[in-house]
This record gives sequence, C-alpha cells and structure tokens, in this order.
Amino acid sequence: MTRTLEADPVAPLGAALSEAAEVVRRGGLVAFPTETVYGLGANALSPEAVRAIFEAKGRPAANPIIVHIADRSDVARLTSRWPGVAERIARAFWPGPVTLVAPRSGQVPDVVTAGGETVALRMPAHPVAAALIQAAGVPIAAPSANRSARISPTTAAHVLSQLAGRIDLVLDGGACAAGIESTVIDTTTDPPTILRPGPVSAEELWNEAGVRSVAGSAAPGRPHRSPGAMARHYAPSARTIVTEASEACVYDEAAKGRPVAWLRFAREAEPKPGVLQLTMPDDANAYAAVLYARLHQAEAAGVEVIVISQPPSGSHWTAVLDRLSRASRA
Ligand code: TXA
Ligand code: MG
Repeated sequence: MTRTLEADPVAPLGAALSEAAEVVRRGGLVAFPTETVYGLGANALSPEAVRAIFEAKGRPAANPIIVHIADRSDVARLTSRWPGVAERIARAFWPGPVTLVAPRSGQVPDVVTAGGETVALRMPAHPVAAALIQAAGVPIAAPSANRSARISPTTAAHVLSQLAGRIDLVLDGGACAAGIESTVIDTTTDPPTILRPGPVSAEELWNEAGVRSVAGSAAPGRPHRSPGAMARHYAPSARTIVTEASEACVYDEAAKGRPVAWLRFAREAEPKPGVLQLTMPDDANAYAAVLYARLHQAEAAGVEVIVISQPPSGSHWTAVLDRLSRASRA
C-alpha cells in the first residue's frame, strides 16, 4: 500500500519528514513535491533502491535520472569535474529549477546515469524537498513521479492516480509552483547545451549568470540523449491537438460525437455545452503552472480528444511550447 502524509510546505520539519527520510534510508520509494513537479525519490547511492524507481515507473533502463542534493558541498563527491559554467549557473539559480549535467564521480551508481559518463544534479528550492534530502542524509535520485511517458504530476493526487500501490509513500506538500520540469543544461559542451527547456530560460542564463547557451539535445556520439526527447514523453492518453483553429477543431470533434476538452484562452469564443472547457492563463509562467493539472483533469474526465489553443510564439513560451509539442506528438 502507498501511504500519504501531509508535509507543511512552510514548516516541513516534523514526523512526516522523519518517516519519509527513514523510508529513503532503508531503500524505499518516496514521492515528494519540488517547485517544478513531484519527484519519485530513492537513495541515489543505492543501486537496488534506484532500480526500484525504474520498476515502479516502467521506465526504460537507458534513461538517466537526476540526483537531487541539499547542499553545494555534495557536488564534489558526485562529480569528477565541475566546469566553470556549471558553477556560475549554480551560483545564480540554485536552489531552483535548473539541472546541471557534469562528468560523474565513481560514487554515482551506473543505474543512475544509465551507464553514461555524466550525472545530472539539481538542488531543489521547495522546502519539503530540501528538508527530505537533508533528513535522509543521502542524495536523492528522482525522476518525475509518473508512469513512464505519461504526464508529470503537480499534486499528490496526480501521483497516486498513476503510482498508488507501486511506491511506499507520498509526501503531500500541495501543488507545485512552476508546474513543468526543470531546465536541463549540459555543462560539458562549450557553449553549454539546453537539453530540455524549462522554467529558467536561455535569456535568464545570460542575464543572471552571464552564460550563453545553445538549444539542442546531447552532442552526437554521446551515449544518452535526453529521454525528454522521446516521442511520447509527457503525453496524455487522449488524442491531443494543438492548433490555431481550435474553435473549429472543437466543433468538428464534438460533431463526430467525441467527448472533447478544450484548453482555451479567455478571449476565445465560448464553446457549446457538452465540451469540457478549461481556461488557460495568458501569462507563460502562469500557463506552465496549471498546464499538467489541466491535462490530468481532462484525462480524469475521460475525454477522447484534447484540443489546445496555440499559445503565442516568443521566447517566454519556449518551455510550454516544448511540452505541448511532446504532448501532441502521435
Ligand atoms: O524538474 C525536474 O527536473 C523533475 C523534478 C522531480 O526534479 N525531474 C524530472 O526528472 O523531470 P525526469 O527523469 O522526468 O527527467 C530527467 C531529464 C530527462 O530528460 C533526462 O534525459 C535528463 O533529465 N537527464 C538525466 N540525467 C542525464 C544525464 N546524465 N545526461 C543528460 N540528460 C540527463
Ligand atoms: Mg519525467
């Protein structure tokens, strides 16, 4: 059975935290909130514990996992080299929604890196995540707490809808603020490569850390591309269509008798009754914060088709557009 414990996001120290830390120490699986999405955590230094993550998620073994730390001093034991750009980015954005890929040390089990020579590190800002890592006393390996290739969870209820009975514990710390996964940056390339766009944009890397980056997946010849590049990653089970002509598309699908959800902007026409309409914010960060929750809601309602009004282009929307294109890929 999977148990759920409430963890106060403002004052997270307490019984729930020590219990969760104990589960991690003895090799179990704990889902916990971060500022991006919920993670499915295990002791990163234990190959058996990390293998259990792959098992619970149905995750392909070739996908490496992010190691979460609570203190910058952990970087030294987990990496064999820490590039100058990694240090600059960490100083500007840690703790926060940025993951840095660097050469791994011998202390990182192969199963974490999927056999590769690099490790992805992140220091989360969420007080529950930070307190859990601290209390466990070990770095915590954690992918998003969803079944492989499904939508990432931004609430404890989302986690349970996919993983109930497959993991030991969920720490419920409420909804995640950013709502989409961290920006993943490979710091072993020059310039560094954004493997997965996220809450911290290329502009912010430049403005706040003085770091120029390029977009793209891992360099050719690398053992692992980001599994974020997998075709059906982040996908809802309903057919998902992102289009400028959303109103016509919704009417078309509804006319064929299909249950439809429409993620629309407030300025667009009201849909006719029978369509599950979910209004999306006009601001890119606010949109990202609710996107997965809306997709989970549409899934739970059992719709066959999810029509999503095309958001504006522009660099603020890069991470959202990335997730939408993955969600709608056939
Ligand atoms: O916000 C997040 O990053 C969340 C929270 C829980 O921290 N975690 C997350 O993990 O999204 P996951 O496993 O769903 O996605 C991890 C991403 C994948 O795209 C993976 O390819 C990349 O990080 N990654 C992990 N280790 C890597 C490595 N050594 N080299 C290149 N990419 C790596
Ligand atoms: Mg994931």
